[in-house]
Amino acid sequence: MSDPASDFAHMWEWFATHCHGYSPLYERISAAVASDPELLAGLQAVPPSGQLPPALLAAVHYLVLGEPAQPLADVYSGRSDADPGPLFLELCRARREEIMDILATRHIQTNDCGRSAVIGPAITWLAAAIDAPFALVDVGASAGLNLLCDRYRIDYGSHGTTGPADSPVAIDCRVAAGQPPIATHLPPFVARVGIDRAPIDLTDPDDARWLLACVWPDTGRLERTAASIQLARQDLPRVVAGDANATLPGVLSALPSDVVVIVVTTWAFAYFSTQDRQEFLELLDRASHRRVIAWLSAEGAGTVEALTALAPPADDAGQSDLLGAVVFEGGERRAQLLGLVQEHGAWIDWRAGPSATPTAPR
Ligand SMILES: C[S@@+](CC[C@H](N)C(=O)[O-])C[C@H]1O[C@@H](n2cnc3c(N)ncnc32)[C@H](O)[C@@H]1O
Repeated sequence: MSDPASDFAHMWEWFATHCHGYSPLYERISAAVASDPELLAGLQAVPPSGQLPPALLAAVHYLVLGEPAQPLADVYSGRSDADPGPLFLELCRARREEIMDILATRHIQTNDCGRSAVIGPAITWLAAAIDAPFALVDVGASAGLNLLCDRYRIDYGSHGTTGPADSPVAIDCRVAAGQPPIATHLPPFVARVGIDRAPIDLTDPDDARWLLACVWPDTGRLERTAASIQLARQDLPRVVAGDANATLPGVLSALPSDVVVIVVTTWAFAYFSTQDRQEFLELLDRASHRRVIAWLSAEGAGTVEALTALAPPADDAGQSDLLGAVVFEGGERRAQLLGLVQEHGAWIDWRAGPSATPTAPR
């Protein structure tokens, strides 16, 4: 029989390896947690979702964000190069009850505006072929930060930039290979709406702080997430609370019939059950008799079946995720792999041409 304490230690050791090369801070902290039997034993008392390493890391980050005088706050912000391991363990010991409470009530919920950097070229690719007004529907939108993808300044190095030069949100995306279509501006959206079964309320300071807490502090994403939250607060993106498949038909039918709808899922379709994935496709099939629908997805390899079949072999793709399009038209589907991408939009390896196959709007 397996020993839970040793399973937990292995999980944290694995997580330290997972962080290697991306978050040196969380790599060191995870290694320290793996060797603290008392803390590991305490974690067994929290609900299963709170037992995973990102949950404890986020809970402690949540405390640190509210207490800039914490020694760990200096390490997280890069002002101190003290060893974060002992400081983290000390904070967990001192604030055990509060941390357990956070783990019991909050769930990891990411909303990374950097993902707009991979969705942007996919939208440009579509817009080059479809001459119609677009509406944007983000399914699994969380707080809806990626509904503002056209308001961020995204820098693709020598490949160009997208978005307003004076945007307060600056995102860098490295073009690892290929020629992604980069437009100076994304096309206008006549409507934009998100759907999420548990939307984050950006007007609630605690929710916004939790969203920040879920970001790993030393990956260069904290500042841009804070800036995108500020931007979103000025003109809150509309995110409808509800299950995707139950809510999407109503959202689609409320949109003007002459628009082409861009349905986006970024690291959200992965949470759908096999049956829900099938129903989602059938729902878009049905809706495509009324109008063209383009589903743009950025998801883990293996999540979107139609793209998996088009993806390069695993040894070529490594651990990267897949960016793709499935265009639904008159009940027919056309899938196109667009690229391999990093999960927070750090890089894109473009694998398609400059534009989609032209589609006549109906
Ligand atoms: C990992 S987050 C990604 C959020 C956002 N798309 C992004 O890329 O930053 C996944 C989101 O999908 C939502 N979600 C998962 N399954 C869902 C469903 N069946 N219906 C609606 N929302 C769902 C979750 O609540 C969560 O906010």
